[in-house]
Amino acid sequence: MSKIIIAIDGPAAAGKGTLARKLAAHYDFAYLDTGSLYRAVALTLILSGKPDPSESEAEDAANNLNPAILTDSELRAEATGKLASRVATMQKVRDALKIFQIDFANNPPEGQQGAVLDGRDIGTVICPDAPCKIYVTATDQVRAKRRWMELSARGDERPFNDILQDLIARDRQDQQRAAAPLKPAKDAYRLDTSDLSPEAVLKKAIEIVDSRIK
Ligand code: CDP
Repeated sequence: MSKIIIAIDGPAAAGKGTLARKLAAHYDFAYLDTGSLYRAVALTLILSGKPDPSESEAEDAANNLNPAILTDSELRAEATGKLASRVATMQKVRDALKIFQIDFANNPPEGQQGAVLDGRDIGTVICPDAPCKIYVTATDQVRAKRRWMELSARGDERPFNDILQDLIARDRQDQQRAAAPLKPAKDAYRLDTSDLSPEAVLKKAIEIVDSRIK
């Protein structure tokens, strides 16, 4: 039987991960944070002394990912996110990570009935036939505040304005790249989370998913 796929896309720090994780728990579906794959490529390169990689060096890192890197505490560091966004512009890196994502969606690892994937191109490129697509957004200020809180909790105290400027630059790079640019799929529900609590976002998303899969 084909699996139910929920695609969550949106810009940085819009609340995709929190929502996707909770949706997966609610439906007992598998969850894949696809951003962590791009971050893993970036961190592999940083740790091997290649902070400014060529496309073939980045492709090589993507083809030889060590799963242990996914639990490294530096995965969520700002420098990792920045390089992740750069390697994500490289078509060969995207191609190297594509099969794994498609396979995860169609064959969830523990045999679950469905999968939730969050990223930038899930509804447009990875799972264009997913019945449920949600494009999560929030204002730049709100997203920068969320990222500021996330980084502060990691002990990474950076001025709010630097975080805001980095976030805007990263979104621009994600939206303007030729390879799978960040954009809402035509059939995605656009959910603005600026004024919503995480609980309210989850409630709305469940309504959307239920209306599309029942
Ligand atoms: O958590 P945050 O929103 O900061 O970013 P992330 O989801 O961890 O993704 C890091 C970077 O990977 C993004 O800025 C994108 O450039 C890239 N990415 C992508 O291109 N496609 C995806 N499906 C997921 C992430």
